[in-house]
Amino acid sequence: MLQADAERMAIPIVITLNGRQEQLNVAPWVTLLDLLRGPMELPGTKKGCDHGQCGACTVLIDGQRVNSCLKLAVTLDGAEITTIEGLGQPGNLHPLQQAFVDHDAYQCGYCTPGQICSAAGLMSEGHAHSREEIRELMSGNLCRCGAYTNIADAIEQVMGQTSKDFKEAAE
Ligand code: FES
Ligand code: FES
Repeated sequence: MLQADAERMAIPIVITLNGRQEQLNVAPWVTLLDLLRGPMELPGTKKGCDHGQCGACTVLIDGQRVNSCLKLAVTLDGAEITTIEGLGQPGNLHPLQQAFVDHDAYQCGYCTPGQICSAAGLMSEGHAHSREEIRELMSGNLCRCGAYTNIADAIEQVMGQTSKDFKEAAE
Protein backbone atom coordinates (compact mmCIF):
# COMPACT_ATOMS: atom_id res chain seq x y z
CA MET A 1 0.00 0.00 0.00
CA LEU A 2 1.39 3.41 -0.97
CA GLN A 3 1.98 6.12 1.60
CA ALA A 4 -0.48 8.35 -0.28
CA ASP A 5 -3.21 5.70 0.14
CA ALA A 6 -2.43 5.42 3.85
CA GLU A 7 -2.81 9.18 4.27
CA ARG A 8 -6.00 9.35 2.17
CA MET A 9 -7.70 6.54 4.10
CA ALA A 10 -6.46 7.51 7.59
CA ILE A 11 -9.05 7.66 10.36
CA PRO A 12 -8.74 10.00 13.37
CA ILE A 13 -8.58 8.41 16.81
CA VAL A 14 -7.77 9.65 20.30
CA ILE A 15 -6.04 7.28 22.70
CA THR A 16 -4.40 7.60 26.09
CA LEU A 17 -0.98 6.02 25.78
CA ASN A 18 1.03 5.54 28.96
CA GLY A 19 -0.95 8.33 30.58
CA ARG A 20 -0.62 10.80 27.70
CA GLN A 21 -3.45 11.70 25.36
CA GLU A 22 -2.56 11.25 21.68
CA GLN A 23 -4.58 12.41 18.67
CA LEU A 24 -3.66 10.27 15.71
CA ASN A 25 -4.62 9.56 12.13
CA VAL A 26 -4.19 5.88 11.39
CA ALA A 27 -4.73 3.81 8.28
CA PRO A 28 -7.40 1.13 8.79
CA TRP A 29 -4.96 -1.78 8.37
CA VAL A 30 -2.37 -0.65 10.95
CA THR A 31 -2.12 -2.88 14.02
CA LEU A 32 -1.60 -1.46 17.47
CA LEU A 33 1.77 -3.26 17.53
CA ASP A 34 2.99 -1.50 14.39
CA LEU A 35 1.62 1.82 15.64
CA LEU A 36 3.53 1.46 18.90
CA ARG A 37 6.82 0.32 17.40
CA GLY A 38 6.60 2.73 14.45
CA PRO A 39 5.08 6.21 14.81
CA MET A 40 4.84 6.09 18.62
CA GLU A 41 8.52 5.11 18.93
CA LEU A 42 7.87 2.62 21.73
CA PRO A 43 9.94 -0.44 20.76
CA GLY A 44 9.58 -2.13 24.15
CA THR A 45 6.58 -4.06 22.83
CA LYS A 46 8.06 -6.88 20.76
CA LYS A 47 6.99 -8.50 17.51
CA GLY A 48 7.41 -12.25 17.66
CA CYS A 49 5.00 -14.23 15.51
CA ASP A 50 2.74 -11.31 14.44
CA HIS A 51 -0.11 -13.88 14.47
CA GLY A 52 -1.39 -13.99 18.04
CA GLN A 53 0.58 -17.08 19.00
CA CYS A 54 3.54 -16.00 21.14
CA GLY A 55 2.44 -13.16 23.46
CA ALA A 56 5.58 -11.08 22.86
CA CYS A 57 3.39 -8.13 21.83
CA THR A 58 1.18 -8.14 24.95
CA VAL A 59 0.06 -4.72 26.21
CA LEU A 60 -2.74 -3.57 28.48
CA ILE A 61 -5.85 -2.03 26.92
CA ASP A 62 -8.20 -0.57 29.52
CA GLY A 63 -6.39 -2.77 32.05
CA GLN A 64 -6.82 -6.02 30.13
CA ARG A 65 -3.96 -7.90 28.49
CA VAL A 66 -4.21 -8.05 24.73
CA ASN A 67 -2.00 -9.25 21.87
CA SER A 68 -1.36 -5.95 20.12
CA CYS A 69 -0.53 -7.70 16.82
CA LEU A 70 -4.19 -8.77 16.60
CA LYS A 71 -5.69 -5.37 17.37
CA LEU A 72 -6.32 -2.80 14.68
CA ALA A 73 -5.46 0.66 15.94
CA VAL A 74 -8.63 2.21 14.47
CA THR A 75 -10.76 0.15 16.87
CA LEU A 76 -9.12 1.82 19.86
CA ASP A 77 -10.65 5.28 19.81
CA GLY A 78 -11.03 6.34 23.45
CA ALA A 79 -8.96 3.45 24.81
CA GLU A 80 -6.31 3.61 27.51
CA ILE A 81 -3.19 1.71 26.53
CA THR A 82 -0.26 0.82 28.74
CA THR A 83 2.97 -0.61 27.36
CA ILE A 84 6.04 -1.82 29.23
CA GLU A 85 7.40 1.74 29.03
CA GLY A 86 4.34 2.98 30.92
CA LEU A 87 4.43 0.36 33.68
CA GLY A 88 7.70 1.60 35.14
CA GLN A 89 10.98 3.24 34.23
CA PRO A 90 14.59 2.89 35.37
CA GLY A 91 14.73 4.17 38.93
CA ASN A 92 10.99 3.64 39.38
CA LEU A 93 10.35 0.03 38.40
CA HIS A 94 6.97 -1.65 38.62
CA PRO A 95 7.08 -4.40 41.28
CA LEU A 96 6.85 -7.03 38.52
CA GLN A 97 9.82 -5.49 36.70
CA GLN A 98 11.84 -5.54 39.92
CA ALA A 99 10.80 -9.14 40.62
CA PHE A 100 11.90 -10.24 37.14
CA VAL A 101 15.31 -8.70 37.86
CA ASP A 102 15.48 -10.28 41.33
CA HIS A 103 14.57 -13.74 40.03
CA ASP A 104 16.65 -13.64 36.85
CA ALA A 105 13.40 -14.24 34.97
CA TYR A 106 14.80 -13.66 31.49
CA GLN A 107 17.69 -14.68 29.30
CA CYS A 108 17.59 -12.94 25.91
CA GLY A 109 14.77 -10.70 27.20
CA TYR A 110 12.77 -10.71 23.98
CA CYS A 111 9.62 -12.12 25.56
CA THR A 112 10.03 -10.15 28.80
CA PRO A 113 7.96 -7.00 28.10
CA GLY A 114 5.05 -9.20 27.04
CA GLN A 115 5.51 -11.48 30.04
CA ILE A 116 5.45 -8.52 32.44
CA CYS A 117 2.44 -6.83 30.83
CA SER A 118 0.63 -10.16 30.80
CA ALA A 119 1.47 -10.74 34.47
CA ALA A 120 0.12 -7.27 35.32
CA GLY A 121 -3.12 -8.17 33.52
CA LEU A 122 -3.21 -11.57 35.23
CA MET A 123 -2.98 -9.94 38.63
CA SER A 124 -5.81 -7.52 37.99
CA GLU A 125 -7.99 -10.37 36.64
CA GLY A 126 -7.66 -12.06 40.04
CA HIS A 127 -8.11 -15.60 38.67
CA ALA A 128 -4.73 -17.04 39.67
CA HIS A 129 -4.71 -18.46 43.19
CA SER A 130 -1.80 -20.88 42.96
CA ARG A 131 1.50 -21.35 41.15
CA GLU A 132 -0.19 -23.89 38.85
CA GLU A 133 -2.81 -21.31 37.91
CA ILE A 134 -0.09 -18.74 37.23
CA ARG A 135 1.56 -21.23 34.85
CA GLU A 136 -1.75 -22.04 33.17
CA LEU A 137 -2.92 -18.43 32.82
CA MET A 138 0.47 -17.28 31.55
CA SER A 139 0.62 -20.05 28.95
CA GLY A 140 -0.12 -17.64 26.11
CA ASN A 141 3.27 -16.01 26.65
CA LEU A 142 5.99 -18.18 25.17
CA CYS A 143 9.65 -17.99 26.14
CA ARG A 144 12.08 -19.54 23.70
CA CYS A 145 14.80 -19.38 26.34
CA GLY A 146 12.71 -21.52 28.68
CA ALA A 147 12.82 -19.13 31.65
CA TYR A 148 9.39 -20.32 32.79
CA THR A 149 10.38 -21.41 36.30
CA ASN A 150 11.96 -18.06 37.14
CA ILE A 151 9.08 -16.16 35.50
CA ALA A 152 6.61 -18.02 37.73
CA ASP A 153 8.86 -17.33 40.75
CA ALA A 154 8.82 -13.59 39.99
CA ILE A 155 5.06 -13.41 39.53
CA GLU A 156 4.45 -15.56 42.60
CA GLN A 157 6.60 -13.20 44.68
CA VAL A 158 4.64 -10.11 43.64
CA MET A 159 1.33 -11.89 44.16
CA GLY A 160 2.59 -12.92 47.59
CA GLN A 161 3.05 -9.23 48.42
CA THR A 162 -0.43 -8.26 47.29
CA SER A 163 -2.84 -11.22 47.33
CA LYS A 164 -4.47 -12.79 50.40
CA ASP A 165 -4.46 -16.28 48.79
CA PHE A 166 -0.74 -16.18 48.16
CA LYS A 167 0.06 -14.75 51.57
CA GLU A 168 -1.88 -17.58 53.21
CA ALA A 169 -0.20 -20.19 50.98
CA ALA A 170 3.23 -18.85 51.97
CA GLU A 171 2.46 -19.06 55.71
S1 FES B 1 3.64 -11.00 18.07
FE1 FES B 1 1.64 -10.88 18.81
S2 FES B 1 1.22 -12.82 19.63
FE2 FES B 1 3.19 -13.03 18.72
S1 FES C 1 13.95 -14.68 27.79
FE1 FES C 1 14.43 -15.19 25.72
S2 FES C 1 12.49 -15.63 24.85
FE2 FES C 1 12.07 -15.40 26.95
